[in-house]
Amino acid sequence: MPSHDNKTQLRFLTCGSVDDGKSTLIGRLLYDSGCLFEDQLSSLRRESERKNADGGLDFSLVMDGLLAEREQGITIDVAYRYFETKNRKFIVADAPGHEQYTQNMATGASNSEAAVVLIDARNGILPQTVRHTDSAVLLGIRHIALAVNKMDLAGWSEDVFDEISKDYASLIKKLEGDAGKLFVTCIPLSALKGNNVFERGDDTPWYGGPTLAEYLETVQPGGERADEKLRPFRMPVQWVNRPDANFRGYSGTVASGTIREGDEIVILPSGRRNTVDRVISGGERRRGAQEGEAVTLCVTNETDISRGDVLSDARSTPDVTDHFRAAIVWMSEDKLFPGREYILKMPNRMVSAAVTEIRGKMSVETLSMEPAKTLAINEIGICNVKTGTPIVCEPYSKSRELGGFILIDRASNDTVGAGMIRYSLRRSANVTWHSFEITKDARARLMGHPPRVLWFTGLSGSGKSTIANLVDKRLFAAGLHSCVLDGDNVRHGLNKDLGFTEEDRVENIRRIAEVAKLMFDAGLIVLVAFISPFQKDRQSARSLFAPGEFVEVFVDTPLEVCERRDPKGLYKKARAGEIPNFTGINAPYERPEHPELVVNWQGPAEDEAERIVNFLDNFPPSAAFDSLP
Ligand code: ADX
Repeated sequence: MPSHDNKTQLRFLTCGSVDDGKSTLIGRLLYDSGCLFEDQLSSLRRESERKNADGGLDFSLVMDGLLAEREQGITIDVAYRYFETKNRKFIVADAPGHEQYTQNMATGASNSEAAVVLIDARNGILPQTVRHTDSAVLLGIRHIALAVNKMDLAGWSEDVFDEISKDYASLIKKLEGDAGKLFVTCIPLSALKGNNVFERGDDTPWYGGPTLAEYLETVQPGGERADEKLRPFRMPVQWVNRPDANFRGYSGTVASGTIREGDEIVILPSGRRNTVDRVISGGERRRGAQEGEAVTLCVTNETDISRGDVLSDARSTPDVTDHFRAAIVWMSEDKLFPGREYILKMPNRMVSAAVTEIRGKMSVETLSMEPAKTLAINEIGICNVKTGTPIVCEPYSKSRELGGFILIDRASNDTVGAGMIRYSLRRSANVTWHSFEITKDARARLMGHPPRVLWFTGLSGSGKSTIANLVDKRLFAAGLHSCVLDGDNVRHGLNKDLGFTEEDRVENIRRIAEVAKLMFDAGLIVLVAFISPFQKDRQSARSLFAPGEFVEVFVDTPLEVCERRDPKGLYKKARAGEIPNFTGINAPYERPEHPELVVNWQGPAEDEAERIVNFLDNFPPSAAFDSLP
């Protein structure tokens, strides 16, 4: 028997609902492996007797006990259970099956090597089975055991099992199209009676495969990688190791492949070539290192290599791209909208990113793609993603390290999605940013003033357009170059394809922010008057500009006042139920938190306009020019 420390370890995820017998199965695994504590055992016996007259052990009670333990504290999204057999130690990630399960699964799956997907033999493959399998696969799990449970209630029927195995095989085949090779074993069992969990039992003479315990003891995650043998060398640089002027090395963990002294490498994203001079690991010089090892590499030609760069085999390099196709599992109550900016985080790197297009979302019922404009919580979409700066990446099927990312909400810092890169879109390689020679400062000199964006936000009827118009007139009279972009007007032309759903408003504001940026670059003072009800989208607009260039003006007129004014009769219609999604009535308006200016609705409009122009004067053109070279 291997000594305690020599045992290998397997982390696996269990997916299934309580009805499928998940608690019973986990309880059974802990019990049969002899890993329940004495007090858990005695309370299991006691409770079982109380519940069942026949005195049989009810293993789901083990989990109920553990659950109660879990519920004493704050909610734990994923519970980890431990057991061991003579060869292996196991860590079971158990994601509770309530509605946020995808997020929990994502947490559990992110470090699991295999999944046990549980179904009730009497029900066969259900939509939730598809969802569980699909999520596990999207999250990078390649090894799946389908535990066909409650076979005792299905008469230990070989036909039932064969039918389910066949159905599951065709589901897996569909998934493999996108995900690459999957390794699946179907096992007929009864968690309640124990057949084919640890003990084989006499009821399935027709089944020649492993018991669940045998499967778990022998599955070789990563084995599929051994088949691929030589995955090319990749190592994201974790830090630049520079203890003194005489030494400079680049430290990190080898994500794939091997590296030896003398190997030629390419540094990405710069694309510069170099040669490995020394490989140091555990404080000693070594001839080489392989996947999973932490090393410091020294190179022959000193160049600029920094944290987040990826060192790669020179013969086969990963992509450098700012536009790619990815599968995204959405985990936030706030929906995903194309155009909205998030932070994309990969090992050692954070960049801004937005989904440019949702190509479709996975239908759990049909397992086909259906069109989608947004992703709601727990939905899985195939999306095009654009990043603010290029990233070094590979398809997730080739590399978890360079293919997986999470999306973070800029405001709350919450993780809102997990993504897996499929492939980079060529566009980024073929469209370059052309730098023109007339600078912003030079243009400002010609115009006689620096450009600005004045972003008016507020309810319909709050007076945005009125105030913007007054400001525009004053600027014009003073000989400044300004123009107005107004919601009602732009919606007649550029944005006439957009309505008032949340996703359309996000796109409306994204386009207008881009147009404002173009006009700003042309040297103008751009007055933008849109309801722009969402904080995030105003923030995205702001992020296109440098500090001081974007001035948010909140026209803070109360809803009652706007409704009383009702200049276009729209509030009346909205109240009558004739306009859906009307801001303030049946669609939200998020008040700005830190606007540069707030317009007082009670003050005369002329005075308010004057105040805004004076505010602009506080960034006087002259001061801006003084600082010009
Ligand atoms: S935004 O929300 O996407 O920023 P935008 O400023 O372009 O809205 O357009 C708002 C104008 O469209 C309103 O002033 C109003 O005249 C008109 N409108 C028509 N339907 C709606 C609606 N459902 N909600 C708000 N405004 C509407």
